[in-house]
Amino acid sequence: MLSEEKNRLLTEVGPGKPMGDYLRRYWHPIAGASEFDDKAVKPLRILGEDLVLYKDLSGNYGLVDRRCPHRNADMSYGYVEKCGLRCSYHGWQYDTSGQCIHQPFEETLDPDARMRKNTKIKAYPVQEKAGLLWAYMGPQPAPLLPDWELFNCKNGFAQAVFAEIPCNWFQCQENSIDPVHFEWTHNNWTTRLQGDEGPYVPTHLKLAFEEFEHGFVYKRLRGGEREDNVMWTTGRVTLWPNGFFLGHHFEWRVPIDDHHTLSVLWVLSRVPTEQEPYVQERIPSWYGPIKDPATGRWITSHVANQDFVVWVGQGTVTDRTREKLGQSDKGIVMMRRRFFEELESMQSDPSHEPKGLIRDPEKNHDVFLPSACRDEMLHGLPRRELAAHPLLGPYLKDFFGQAGQPDDVRAAYEQAIGQKVEGASFFKVHGGASDAEAEAEAQGTAS
Ligand code: FES
Ligand SMILES: [Fe+2]
Repeated sequence: MLSEEKNRLLTEVGPGKPMGDYLRRYWHPIAGASEFDDKAVKPLRILGEDLVLYKDLSGNYGLVDRRCPHRNADMSYGYVEKCGLRCSYHGWQYDTSGQCIHQPFEETLDPDARMRKNTKIKAYPVQEKAGLLWAYMGPQPAPLLPDWELFNCKNGFAQAVFAEIPCNWFQCQENSIDPVHFEWTHNNWTTRLQGDEGPYVPTHLKLAFEEFEHGFVYKRLRGGEREDNVMWTTGRVTLWPNGFFLGHHFEWRVPIDDHHTLSVLWVLSRVPTEQEPYVQERIPSWYGPIKDPATGRWITSHVANQDFVVWVGQGTVTDRTREKLGQSDKGIVMMRRRFFEELESMQSDPSHEPKGLIRDPEKNHDVFLPSACRDEMLHGLPRRELAAHPLLGPYLKDFFGQAGQPDDVRAAYEQAIGQKVEGASFFKVHGGASDAEAEAEAQGTAS
């Protein structure tokens, strides 16, 4: 249980709020690069700020204020130039640093362009990595954008999957350090959604949480499992400050504002070694629906969707003055405590270096994170072994991660792995889950 004040500390992300300022010290994935294949300008809201993300005619990305500093026109209706974005009202043009570089009428009257030189639009740096566009909204010098090892894994098919979730980011991130929910939100609920009353999977017997540089590792042991089970020996990573790393995929919960979160999944499916060498030309990105239009209820058929249901169900900003924490919440308590420490350190010492930032370029190659399937991802498996692999095999049958995978992404994936995805048409909005998902759940794959 937390006081209202402490709850606000964790959940408020706007500029000037302690957590807002803290999260601004990290790079965040905000869109898919492939979104800019057929458009140049995208309005979005991140950390409570209304912004416009664009790709100019030279291929450079920019992220600027939604409002033009001249007379507040909407920059999402601006047009891109060779350098930067031009406002469609009076043609003022800004480069990616936000500097105004053209003020057509003003410059005609004042060739020295004194006013232009003094005009800037708020702008943030953007980088492309792993098919994602990342923004840094904090003070300079920016840390390095982490080069996680999985991003560089060869012979994989990656996809970036987004959804806008109408609740606060912190309850989404608490789910990244909540092993017991697997059993009920994914395993057993899926059984029930399929119309079966059981059997339920063996319950958790013990949990362990350990802090390391880039977050926490959580470990779990369930009934019937031996202590050499990889979920107990290696576990999974609660990635600081707002991510989750499961060996073959990442999840990030990026605050849109205090009441909305951008869920980002980045999933890498290793192709069978028979398909090597496989080089992915373009990492696709797509947005999945979260509500069934027929019933107005949340979609429950896929793993991430099941998570979304429980997150939004906690309330837009969950009321932590009313919770009753148990032993299963030990990791959540550790994570909150760590955030409070960080916020306090930043408050008392503005030069405090936030946890896990990478600044040394030498250290920013293939950055290691513990993974239950690292060898398999790095070195691959023949088709038969891949199909039998408890964590990776189910992906050969279906994309059970999130509802709504577009046909062209599935087709590209089938081509990559050299086989049809048999359960691909299983997507049912009205609950129920695929065989692949059920199998994944049974094997403890699901997130
Ligand atoms: S409002 Fe943008 S140029 Fe005038
Ligand atoms: Fe989950």
